[in-house]
Amino acid sequence: MPQKKKPEEIPAFAYRRGSLYAGPIALETLARRFGTPLYVYRWEAIAAAYGAYEAALAGQPHLICAAVKANGNLALLQRLARLGSGFDIVSGGELQRVRRAGGDPGKVVFSGVGKTAAEMDAALAAGILLFNVESEGELELLAARAAAARRRARFGLRVNPNIAAATHPHISTGLRRHKFGLETAAAVALYRRAAGFSWLEAAGISFHIGSQILDPEPFGAALDRILKIVDKLPARPRWLDIGGGLGIAYREGERAPSIAAYLTPLRRRLAGAGFTLLLEPGRRLLAPAGVLLTRALYRKRNGGREFLIVDAGHNDLIRPVLYDAYHRILPARRPKPGARARPVDVVGPVCETADFFARDRRLPPVAPGELLAILDAGAYGYVLASNYNARPRPAEVLVAGGRARLIRRRETIDDLLRLERQVRSA
Ligand code: LLP
Repeated sequence: MPQKKKPEEIPAFAYRRGSLYAGPIALETLARRFGTPLYVYRWEAIAAAYGAYEAALAGQPHLICAAVKANGNLALLQRLARLGSGFDIVSGGELQRVRRAGGDPGKVVFSGVGKTAAEMDAALAAGILLFNVESEGELELLAARAAAARRRARFGLRVNPNIAAATHPHISTGLRRHKFGLETAAAVALYRRAAGFSWLEAAGISFHIGSQILDPEPFGAALDRILKIVDKLPARPRWLDIGGGLGIAYREGERAPSIAAYLTPLRRRLAGAGFTLLLEPGRRLLAPAGVLLTRALYRKRNGGREFLIVDAGHNDLIRPVLYDAYHRILPARRPKPGARARPVDVVGPVCETADFFARDRRLPPVAPGELLAILDAGAYGYVLASNYNARPRPAEVLVAGGRARLIRRRETIDDLLRLERQVRSA
């Protein structure tokens, strides 16, 4: 009997008969139908990753709150909600996305260091599950808004566990010098103080130590610190929120822990402790399920370097520039066996030297007109896109159940200009 594959191991895209496919649909077909640059997501890969989280937590009360910031497309949120997912939001806008997608506000946690009064009011009116509070000032404001609305605000405190996790400095968050969370002593004091506010209910404790973390160890260390803090609290909170942060293998040959390898030690540590676990996965749920499709426009040599100019720019996917991120790039047509790979800079049309997807990347020869897939673009891809150089943002397509559907149309120049007004000079 062949062993059943673990659910998270479903590859979203694979070569078949020499071409790259999303399920039964060739990516070239999608590029012709919807144009490029184009984001394509494969639902089955998201559902499998979600299933892997669920499976690894069997027997432990929990709620998965997908991080909306990683990819907020309504069609994806709607499908996640149908699986039972809750959502981690960081703004009033993300709350509106969740509601528009039919997500249950009772399964929403609100994270972030800078919540405004208006955002709190909206979240209170919606009846969200939990505010993850990150400062004393925020707790005071939340108490005032809750009293004014005569609505109970359940809150958790985000603690900064002062744990270093090996990741890019821009996406590391769990050290004392970062802006995130409360120091231990401050958290304990604040928990005590909260008892004096009648519309506040102390219900949770949380941490999030960073993103794209490939070593499970720091999560365990952070959990241990949090559990020590819990012992000092006047009452035991029901919700224990371990944030997101589990990384993926972006590079060839890189290894990321399985979802089970990440969660099993944490689940064991928490067995019988009486917490309901909250998780806020973003990248691991969504990144491998998405590609950015782009067509090669030109090849050229400059100063001894070889450039491949493509029709997507860093305004469409900024991760390589912003975080020195590596994204695999595959030709949609599988290169012939024996095709010689040569180092090339894959760059976009935007007028910036920083507009690149890869430098000195060994790629087989790619001719103008050929289609390329930039992998692992399902998280922190579209959401970070901009209109720099007056470039309309790409369309998004979802492949689910063997069908491809447009889940966001390509922007037009009119979309871009709509908000602007010309003023007559006197
Ligand atoms: N919860 C909180 C409080 C967060 O700040 C984040 C991500 C998450 C959950 C989800 O983390 P994940 O599971 O995706 O690692 N733009 C960067 C990543 C920024 C992450 C910010 N916070 C990138 O493209 O790498």
